[in-house]
Amino acid sequence: MKKILITGGAGFIGSHVVRLFVNNYPDYQIFNLDKLTYAGNLFNLKDVENKPNYHFLKADIVDGEKMFELFAAHQFDGVIHLAAESHVDRSISNPMEFVMTNVIGTVNLLNAARHQWKDAMESKRFYHVSTDEVYGSLGETGYFYENTAYDPHSPYSASKASSDHFVRAYHDTFGLPVVLSNCSNNYGPNQFPEKLIPLFINNIRHNKPLPVYGKGENVRDWLYVVDHARAIDVIFHRGKTGQTYNIGGHNEWKNIDLIKVMCRVMDEKLGRTLGTSEQLITYVKDRAGHDLRYAIDSGKLQRELGWVPSLQFEEGIRLTIEWYLQNQQWLDEVTSGNYLKYYEQQYVNR
Ligand code: NAD
Ligand code: TYD
Repeated sequence: MKKILITGGAGFIGSHVVRLFVNNYPDYQIFNLDKLTYAGNLFNLKDVENKPNYHFLKADIVDGEKMFELFAAHQFDGVIHLAAESHVDRSISNPMEFVMTNVIGTVNLLNAARHQWKDAMESKRFYHVSTDEVYGSLGETGYFYENTAYDPHSPYSASKASSDHFVRAYHDTFGLPVVLSNCSNNYGPNQFPEKLIPLFINNIRHNKPLPVYGKGENVRDWLYVVDHARAIDVIFHRGKTGQTYNIGGHNEWKNIDLIKVMCRVMDEKLGRTLGTSEQLITYVKDRAGHDLRYAIDSGKLQRELGWVPSLQFEEGIRLTIEWYLQNQQWLDEVTSGNYLKYYEQQYVNR
């Protein structure tokens, strides 16, 4: 029986990974370790919380001693590390929190794993989940490959880049059996409405302005979150130790074009006259250091491990919009309290 530690399992991507592992591997014990920051929500896991192979551990990865304690108590065989501060705009207003969780927190987990696994490294695995943002920004053409040089521009991507370097350093220096992946922008159910897609769905629903940064010409490569979770499953089980795999949707959209698609689908779903939601588009001051374009080449993952995205974007965005409209209580709960303060600071007078 394998014991797998998943960090950040109450967050957006983590909750989809926990669900997939709990349901697909009844013979594994899945431990979800999460601090439950503003982005962590146990409601995301309501459907699996009573399964016998699911366990929740409330803890902060910045607490190094606690990580040693938990590794000693539970003797994990594998780690899938997703816990992080994940929003670029918040990293611009509070970089230190990103250094603490993303860098120090990751090194704490590496130290605990290294210590606990020192006599049995071969049978273990430390999987670090990262982002394509570490590669920096592309011009109009080209792709990020696994060997593209790191060139982060935001405090978020700099902190993720640093954590990736530490993970590789622990492999090269101490023989820790690591594997990494760098994924493009995710979308889908349970994403906190600070990121573009759920924020705009929520604003359209409330007839609030849609704050488009700059001219809306930045390009992102969007992947449905369940396809990311499937890739994590494949890489965790069959990826080669010491290797990195890029994960992406081959699905590039200029922000403004994506926003117009969302407006059209929302008009349709809400029974509004076509064109109503587009009138909410408001161009605001650009994000500082805003990367122009991200695009992932996921050829290595497809060739070596046979993974391909399962959903076309048109289907994924409809499913996503339907989920948010059917789960308005979820949206209302996460957008009360602190969210209102965040929204005020981030968007009023921008
Ligand atoms: P998220 O912000 O939705 O969730 C992060 C989770 O980590 C939350 O549950 C939070 O409570 C937890 N957490 C934060 N600080 C913690 C701490 N100190 N100790 C323990 N738990 C803590 O993030 P997400 O979008 O689900 O991203 C998950 C991972 O995937 C991150 O590592 C991120 O860098 C990476 N990633 C995200 C995307 C994306 O588009 N969202 C794309 C590629 C990679
Ligand atoms: P986001 O969802 O924050 O993801 P990331 O910055 O990690 O790619 O943003 C996606 C794109 O949308 C990015 O180019 C910034 C832009 N954006 C806006 O134009 N307005 C917004 O209010 C937000 C949150 C993002």
